[in-house]
Amino acid sequence: MKQPNQILTRRRFLAGTSTAGAVAYLAANARGADSTPPSTRSPRSATPPGSTRSSQIPSWPIHDEADASAAADVVRSGKWGRLAGRKTLEFEESLRVKAGAGYCLATSTGTTALLTSLGVLGVGPGDEVILPTYTWVACFNVITVNYALPVFVEPDIETFQIDATKIDSAITAATKVILPVHLGGSPADIDAVMAISRRRGIPVLEDACQSPLAEWKGRVVGNFGIAGCISFQASKNLTAGEGGAIITNDEEFYIKCFNYHNQGNVRAGARQVAPLGRGANFRMTELQAGLLLSQLRRFEEQQAARGQNAAYLSSLLSQIPGIAPARIRKECTRHAWHLYMFHYDQSQFAGLTRAKFMRALSADGVDAGPGYAQLNKTPHVRAIASNPHYLRIYGKSGMAAWEERNQTPITDRLCSEGVWLGQRTLLGGRSEMERIAEAIRKIRSRASEIAKV
Ligand SMILES: Cc1ncc(COP(=O)(O)O)c(C=O)c1O
Repeated sequence: MKQPNQILTRRRFLAGTSTAGAVAYLAANARGADSTPPSTRSPRSATPPGSTRSSQIPSWPIHDEADASAAADVVRSGKWGRLAGRKTLEFEESLRVKAGAGYCLATSTGTTALLTSLGVLGVGPGDEVILPTYTWVACFNVITVNYALPVFVEPDIETFQIDATKIDSAITAATKVILPVHLGGSPADIDAVMAISRRRGIPVLEDACQSPLAEWKGRVVGNFGIAGCISFQASKNLTAGEGGAIITNDEEFYIKCFNYHNQGNVRAGARQVAPLGRGANFRMTELQAGLLLSQLRRFEEQQAARGQNAAYLSSLLSQIPGIAPARIRKECTRHAWHLYMFHYDQSQFAGLTRAKFMRALSADGVDAGPGYAQLNKTPHVRAIASNPHYLRIYGKSGMAAWEERNQTPITDRLCSEGVWLGQRTLLGGRSEMERIAEAIRKIRSRASEIAKV
């Protein structure tokens, strides 16, 4: 499966992870990670000099001549838009069947899948939408482009997923949608979220952008709420550079989504529903669909490899004091392994800070990221408190209260101790998992020395 030119040598790998390269790598492989550049100082390696060896971690995306032909076929067909060709329809049908869903709509990105869904749910100014604090900024953006109020809920420290026990108290009369995120490939506690949804009568839109075909009690995520959104952006396990999809079991919702993503225009020959008066062009291109169909050929095999390697890595890392892999709920019957997330406890590493730990990992050729920064405390997010439209809609006191509510000690802790490995690392084979565990063990044994650098 791996092409020789897709296996990175250790030297190229390290070059790609230093300074600017690390930022680019994180952007492409662990997008959403705090892109703090590693120090420009030469990091101290825990591996003795001269012990360089080849990394078996493939570059991403993996592609071959069949992918190139798939793209070329679309080019030659001259049918590049979904309204002209059949590739998007074909991809939607493949994904629908794999997800066990009634309907599937492909979109230009995961963000536009979310925007379409929230648009159809009628989210607008004055509404509140509940989302986790520990997530990618897209979740916030799709709420605020609609001038709705994002209401943050803290994660559960062990699983990194939204803490469903905190959702109830975040609900108000203005809550329009609950937007849980299945983070990193692992399902959030969707039973608990759906129980709240039923009791309070509030729809759930599942953000499964990082968790394609992950399962909760044997059912693919995205099938629990009104719909689920998936991303095929460049770092994702299934990718066409950009792309997205909505899966749903509600025919009317699907038809409305089709119309919304098609500038409000109805699909010829399809059942009609009341017009929404809103919409945009969020259509997938045939080129994206052609590539996705081609990438789908190796998806199952790659997912199986990621799963096996992740389980092996967890068995190794769990033996190292101070390293705790994210807890996976027992109801998770299939993890999509977009991210391998773990906790780093510096008190077990002689006080070695996470930043220094990560630099040492990088020096040993282990490409890790620090995970999300405190989203709710970024200037981008806080700016809505002084946005004139927000002030007009929610009032000065409303926005001040919103700022007050954004005290998130669990998120702060998770953002300071989380460490991520990207999905392509999990395609590296058992020896790579051993190398990662060995690097961490060595860093721990020399932690006080490394801390002084
Ligand atoms: C949790 C989450 N939601 C939404 C998105 C948005 O998807 P896209 O980048 O395809 O627009 C992403 C992707 O990066 C994501 O990780």
